[in-house]
Amino acid sequence: MALGGTVARTRRPSEGPAERRIFSGEGTRYIDAGLVAQTDEGKLFGKRVYHFFKTDSTNRVAMELGYAGEPEGAVILAEEQTAGRGRSGRSWHSERGAGLYVTLLLRPRLSPVQAPLLTMLAGLSAHSAIQAQTGLSAELKWPNDILMDGKKVGGILTEMHAEPTQVRFVIVGIGINTNQEKFPHDIASLATSLRKESGRTHSRLELLVRLLNEFESDYNRFLREGARYVVDRFERVSSFASGKRVRVETGFETYFGTTAGLTSDGLLQVKREEGPVTMVVAGDVTEAR
Ligand code: BTN
Repeated sequence: MALGGTVARTRRPSEGPAERRIFSGEGTRYIDAGLVAQTDEGKLFGKRVYHFFKTDSTNRVAMELGYAGEPEGAVILAEEQTAGRGRSGRSWHSERGAGLYVTLLLRPRLSPVQAPLLTMLAGLSAHSAIQAQTGLSAELKWPNDILMDGKKVGGILTEMHAEPTQVRFVIVGIGINTNQEKFPHDIASLATSLRKESGRTHSRLELLVRLLNEFESDYNRFLREGARYVVDRFERVSSFASGKRVRVETGFETYFGTTAGLTSDGLLQVKREEGPVTMVVAGDVTEAR
């Protein structure tokens, strides 16, 4: 394959048993792309799974696939990223075999202003998948952070290619720290993993399949029911969405206030300490004590 990954696809009924690839080496268990495709047979996300042992960024690969005309539903998955991308130009620490590093390719009929709702939607799907996997409830911090014990356990990075009124494609990159035992010094106090929080290791294949199933049903509901579905659910699940004292950094200004729910488009509203309610379009929102 041109992009250097392994493609697995769901078998057709007329074909023989699906090829199974169990990747193993040097004591590391890799996610079996064939099993993902097989487990998610008949589903949108699972028809085509691109598996990389190592790539720079699954988001970068997904953008390339999007421009090349790859259909909706492709799942791009890596064991290790050498240049994992985070929000606001940050990097995403992607230790080999320890986390889930996955990007989904979507071609929704949406206007570009609605695309950020997909970030929140993916957060909700990840929240449910994590709960089913670990029994623990993560916290969602608008717009893209998944936290446990106040530390970051996952994040979403959505990118798109769009015309002024119509999305061409959107890619939703999801990183979940799964089995990391420790993190580099600079992020050690800010990051955590499912393993550290639950005290046991987790199958990344199982977590991925849960995530894909949750996302597929959430995505279909969003397309059917619109923004309201995402906004209402996010407000229910995230204790951050209202009544939380926060510090907002937009790049232009920094202010303090209290979160006051989401707009119908999914923007966070903050009642400034001295001033009006402001909608946060972009920026870093952190809890202020
Ligand atoms: C953030 O919280 O800053 C977003 C992190 C998103 C990380 C994921 S890992 C899979 C995908 N590929 C990337 O390069 N980034 C996203």
